[in-house]
Amino acid sequence: MGLFSPFSLKGITLRNRIAVPPMCQYSAVDGVSNEWHRVHYNSLARGGAGLVIVEATAVSPEGRITPACLGIWNDAQAEKLGQIAREIKASGAVPGIQIGHAGRKASANKPWEGDDHIPAGETAAWETLSPSAVAFGANLPRLPKAMTLDDIKRVREDFVRAAQRARDAGFEWLELHFAHGYLAQSFFSVHANQRTDEYGGNAVGRSRFLRETFDAVREVWPENLPLTARFGVLEFDGRDEETLQEAITLTKQWRENGLDLLSVSMGFSTPDANIPWGTAFLAPIAERVRREANIPVTSAWGIDAPAIANETIEKGQLDLVMVGRAHLKNPHWSYQAALALHKTEPSWVLPAPYAHWLERYRVSGD
Ligand SMILES: Cc1cc2nc3c(=O)[nH]c(=O)nc-3n(C[C@H](O)[C@H](O)[C@H](O)COP(=O)(O)O)c2cc1C
Repeated sequence: MGLFSPFSLKGITLRNRIAVPPMCQYSAVDGVSNEWHRVHYNSLARGGAGLVIVEATAVSPEGRITPACLGIWNDAQAEKLGQIAREIKASGAVPGIQIGHAGRKASANKPWEGDDHIPAGETAAWETLSPSAVAFGANLPRLPKAMTLDDIKRVREDFVRAAQRARDAGFEWLELHFAHGYLAQSFFSVHANQRTDEYGGNAVGRSRFLRETFDAVREVWPENLPLTARFGVLEFDGRDEETLQEAITLTKQWRENGLDLLSVSMGFSTPDANIPWGTAFLAPIAERVRREANIPVTSAWGIDAPAIANETIEKGQLDLVMVGRAHLKNPHWSYQAALALHKTEPSWVLPAPYAHWLERYRVSGD
């Protein structure tokens, strides 16, 4: 078992255990994907990963991080995304998509244009939503609106409609964005959620929005396709053991209700976190979630050397490895990782029209 063993989940088999995680391109107009998205996703899929997950795609206009984020709240958006799904598939990768709502981190400028909230009152800005009227702080100081019960119901329904559109567009792997300080993570987080009703308080209350949204999506997402979530299981805020235990409890409930895999990540709910950045530093945490919640896991963050990626699989820490920025530097990361690890069958990473020739006529130095 290693990085180049196929990975089966539900009715899907990935050609290897490399996934491209969702990475926002901040390049859409009105939430609609365009030529840049096609170039980007096509090159990643061509590069040999088993799974390519399309970036955080908003379930509603106010759920976008920036005005240039992708959306999937109307048919025109879904139609263009469908083309990308078909193209990813044509390269031999499985097409996935992450759907989400940015919560109090929405209404921001692109990272390269400030990465801060668009000042309220500017025409490009919109009102942000969160469980409570508590700002994130730092570069995102705007006070969000505390969601009413009607808001909660509406956003849950937006997730369901987005999942239906993703399904109909041809995506075969759905990732719910429940991480990184966006709306769902904010419900779970003690930093963002100060509600006193059934959606706040103890871990049961703070998990309710995430459980209900998952259950509602489960009803419409096909049984034979993987339904996954990305979730911040800790914040590196000094409360980590408690948060991790709450997260593992929630993961077990999700698993019982049909979650197929968890993408283990961080909460990013407070600007005061003290994150121990390093090579594959989340892998041991993902391994704990895998073991205690008894569910397949993936994770990202600093796994960009082929040998280390392979080790996380061989050691049983991860079932699938997410390689993000290394793929931006080199879309052929997977193919080159196969060569580096002396995997001699390019069919693990390449579609037949290329694999056939490269198997027969090895390029010197390969
Ligand atoms: C440009 C960029 C955009 C990102 N957008 C998203 C996103 O849409 N959704 C998400 O869950 N994570 C997002 N991330 C985080 C990545 O999925 C990944 O976790 C992170 O880059 C760490 O993995 P790496 O060290 O392999 O790059 C983004 C990261 C980058 C660099």
